[in-house]
Amino acid sequence: MKIYNLVIVGAGGRGRGMASLAIKSKRAKIAAVAETNTERRNLFQKEFGLPKNNCYQDYRTFLKSDLKIDGVFVTTTPNHHSAITCACLEKSIPVFLEKPMAINLKDAAKIVKVAKETGTRLQVGFNCRYAPFFVKMKEIVSSGGLGEILSLEWKEVLGPHHWSTYCRYPSYNKKDVIGSWLLEKCCHDLDLMNWLVESPCHRVASFGSRSYFNPRDNLPKYCTDNCPIENECIFSAFKFHPELKENSEKLPKFYTLCVYNSGSDLIDHQSAILEYSNGVTATFSLIPLIQEERSSRFVYICGTKASLKGDWSKNRIRLFPHEGKEEIVCDPDLSEEREHGGGDPKIVSAFLDWLDDPGKLPKTTEKEGWEAMLVGCGIDLALREHKVVDLDIYRNLNSPVWVQTHR
Ligand SMILES: NC(=O)c1ccc[n+]([C@@H]2O[C@H](COP(=O)([O-])OP(=O)(O)OC[C@H]3O[C@@H](n4cnc5c(N)ncnc54)[C@H](O)[C@@H]3O)[C@@H](O)[C@H]2O)c1
Repeated sequence: MKIYNLVIVGAGGRGRGMASLAIKSKRAKIAAVAETNTERRNLFQKEFGLPKNNCYQDYRTFLKSDLKIDGVFVTTTPNHHSAITCACLEKSIPVFLEKPMAINLKDAAKIVKVAKETGTRLQVGFNCRYAPFFVKMKEIVSSGGLGEILSLEWKEVLGPHHWSTYCRYPSYNKKDVIGSWLLEKCCHDLDLMNWLVESPCHRVASFGSRSYFNPRDNLPKYCTDNCPIENECIFSAFKFHPELKENSEKLPKFYTLCVYNSGSDLIDHQSAILEYSNGVTATFSLIPLIQEERSSRFVYICGTKASLKGDWSKNRIRLFPHEGKEEIVCDPDLSEEREHGGGDPKIVSAFLDWLDDPGKLPKTTEKEGWEAMLVGCGIDLALREHKVVDLDIYRNLNSPVWVQTHR
């Protein structure tokens, strides 16, 4: 069995997670890291026992080195995805690129073009497609268990902890870093919908705004600054990190940012309607304020033979045949890994399988990454410009429309 030499670019939460899984698979070792933040780079170096020489601040340095590299995991914030990915592909190094591909359509198109021109392998990190919950759902749909799909209703709901992380974490709370909330968080959902509907999305419309989590003069910038509503605030950092009360100086200051005064410029709720080329219609909503312990994805699919209801956080899938009286329990087996619903180890294996055999395509390459970007950017454009957006105009990479307009 070949052991692959991998490089991690971006040694944050995701980079460290992917590196651990690659090592755990016993099919790879981490040969080097590129990370701009010195503290994180040093931490990664110690955790994965790398020689100092193989820890780079600038990814371009390792690309110029004579290191033998079999694959790169690009796990930086999305604003750097395009430049790093294109540079690796141009050197013919296979890339695992975290979702979303990029922060706008123009950067994503550049990746697709370079991947095509160089013929280098590019996998996009839509791990939900490997999670047993969605694998099961796909099996039901593909086997005809629902008949023909007519419509989908899809909701992503976030509990207070999850939501406040997105308000506070600098890697997630600004448009210029992540593109938009829809690209960063909901591109999984858009990809899953594309996968289940099995038809390109044709047109979209959307409404949404940041209407609640806006600056409040009566509140301080940080929970630690004697906030007058600290006791009743469901987003108080002390509720999620009780240790902050005594040791706030030991943790990054942003952990305690006020969710209203965080400076985030993202929407706080959004809905979209979608029409696919095969006539399927869908609604999608992002809902940030549920009082549930865990965030979830709620899926309702209406088919000509049966309907399906799914609740991701409860790992529950139920089928309701139109002819039958009883609901059918189709809950997937989740006995293995739970992280991200069990998709992470499988998506890493898929990348290593692809290195073994170029014919063994993973579930998501630049093709699927591009389609999700197209839907996400189209929905955001519809929201900004108050119009129905026809995605077919942007789909063709040779169309000059989107190249001229920086979306
Ligand atoms: N598939 C999933 O379920 C999933 C889950 C979480 C995050 N992600 C994705 O993973 C990516 C990283 O997210 P994260 O939570 O690890 O963020 P993070 O902020 O924890 O890590 C990103 C790291 O990249 C580094 N970085 C930024 N620019 C760089 C550059 N040019 N060169 C080298 N390093 C650079 C930052 O210093 C940081 O340490 C994002 O695209 C995110 O959407 C995917």
